[in-house]
Amino acid sequence: MASGKRMKWDGQIALVTGASSGIGREIAHQLAQAGATVFASARRDERLVQLSAEFPNGSVTPIVADLAEAGTGEWLVEQVLAQAGRLDLLVNNAGYGELVKADEQTTKAVARQMQVNFMAVIEATLKTIPAMKSQGGGRILNVASIVGHMGIPGVSAYVASKHALQGWSEASGYDLKQHNISVTCLCPGGTDTEFQDHASFERHHGVSSFMQSAATVARAGLRGAWKRKLLVIPGLRNRFFLWAHDRMPWLYRRIMYREAKRIAPRD
Ligand SMILES: NC(=O)c1ccc[n+]([C@@H]2O[C@H](COP(=O)([O-])OP(=O)(O)OC[C@H]3O[C@@H](n4cnc5c(N)ncnc54)[C@H](OP(=O)(O)O)[C@@H]3O)[C@@H](O)[C@H]2O)c1
Repeated sequence: MASGKRMKWDGQIALVTGASSGIGREIAHQLAQAGATVFASARRDERLVQLSAEFPNGSVTPIVADLAEAGTGEWLVEQVLAQAGRLDLLVNNAGYGELVKADEQTTKAVARQMQVNFMAVIEATLKTIPAMKSQGGGRILNVASIVGHMGIPGVSAYVASKHALQGWSEASGYDLKQHNISVTCLCPGGTDTEFQDHASFERHHGVSSFMQSAATVARAGLRGAWKRKLLVIPGLRNRFFLWAHDRMPWLYRRIMYREAKRIAPRD
């Protein structure tokens, strides 16, 4: 599975948020296949039950939760600790994006975006750290985005949430290393999941031909978490995109100003 040192998730306890579809489902699936005990969380109960049924040995336990409700991230970790007594891998993956231009945003919608994509991660992480410290260490995998390193038009709230998550991941990674807790920030680019339907990114940013599969992105994230890497940007094309953003900002900005004009106003 991994290049170099083999990943040994066998026997490890993992919590994966956003496990009902896309990247999170793949991460949960790959972990369970590798022998981990997985607590899989999301709002859609039936999807989680389906995932759990694929592992008749009972290695996937569904936990239905809505991370838009403040405190739910903490509650989730409490459930896992109560049932399993430890947590070796926390995967903060749940998230969503909406195509809403900055001049059409509402404070309520931005607050919800920050709650699900960022504050819920903080809630879960702060509950996890004492448990990981007392058990001698652990791993945290945060799923941010390539847009955690740059701006793109039409999704300012989403971009802000991912910048926050990327910044938190790097900084907390420095703080926690001395406790043998690693924080890996996975920053995918366009990935072929249901996310695209909700966010309408595909329609407006023409990313469809650059999409990676959820399985590929999940594998890269798990490999990075296993190796305790601070940052994982899956795919050469995404790494090139980031390089171009940093090295040719004038060109990047010209393209983004043009893109912004192509986004139609909301009905
Ligand atoms: N797809 C991409 O192009 C792309 C690129 C970069 C980063 N990402 C990031 O990757 C992560 C996973 O996204 P994906 O592409 O796999 O999309 P997805 O298929 O839409 O999955 C999103 C997951 O998040 C869960 N979720 C959303 N809102 C939630 C809430 N309020 N409470 C609890 N769970 C919630 C969803 O479950 P329920 O709806 O069942 O609750 C679902 O399991 C996200 O953080 C996203 O920002 C995606």
